[in-house]
Amino acid sequence: MPDDRRPAAWDLYWTTVEGQLGVGPSGFVRWALPFLASAPGNELVELGSGAGRDLRFLIENGFRVRGVDFSVEAVRIARQLLATLPDEVSGRGTVERGEAVEFLKGQLSEQSTAVVGIVLYQTFSDEELLRLFAEVHRALRPGGLHLWCVRDDQHPLRDRRAMVPPNQGGTSESLVDHAFFSEARCDALSAAGFERVRLDRRPETHYLFVADRKPGASPAPLL
Ligand SMILES: C[S@@+](CC[C@H](N)C(=O)[O-])C[C@H]1O[C@@H](n2cnc3c(N)ncnc32)[C@H](O)[C@@H]1O
Repeated sequence: MPDDRRPAAWDLYWTTVEGQLGVGPSGFVRWALPFLASAPGNELVELGSGAGRDLRFLIENGFRVRGVDFSVEAVRIARQLLATLPDEVSGRGTVERGEAVEFLKGQLSEQSTAVVGIVLYQTFSDEELLRLFAEVHRALRPGGLHLWCVRDDQHPLRDRRAMVPPNQGGTSESLVDHAFFSEARCDALSAAGFERVRLDRRPETHYLFVADRKPGASPAPLL
């Protein structure tokens, strides 16, 4: 990636916050779970699998999940978490180190049931986002889901990027840039080949929860 501060910033973030976060799954992945019941198959990818909490939730719910993260620290923590789980559960999950778009490029076309991306797209440039959405589309089976979560443009920290993870203070040179997403921006990204299933605004946390489907199969009825 052109801005190579990002993996190091996330490494520092995970080194610093490890142990301070709850072990439970995010509100987003709990929101996303019912949508997966309508998706074709059982093969998920989590982009930016972080500490592995959401990946754990998904494999405990019976899915096979391949996680990828460019932070060495995140991969270490997630693998440690997997090692604490019963073999029949941990056997459904893998975590590898890599960059999200590059990882997707290495995947065969139309093999994935769903691609999940939880609060990582904010540090992608516009061009990287376009490439990402194109690769997600290529990787998904017809009827497959792209489930993603971003911070909204009303976020109270939108003008204080030093406070937004993975930034933890620092000088303006060391800060990682952030985007905040309007609904219109989400719509524009999804318009590159996806059908919108649901977009929920979470005013209490300033997240946008998005479920998009790659057209091409007749899905089971949703929610
Ligand atoms: C908010 S965390 C995800 C937390 C995760 N869902 C969990 O259960 O712990 C976002 C993760 O995305 C990773 N990340 C951000 N940009 C990335 C990229 N371009 N490629 C791979 N990983 C990325 C970061 O290293 C970070 O671990």
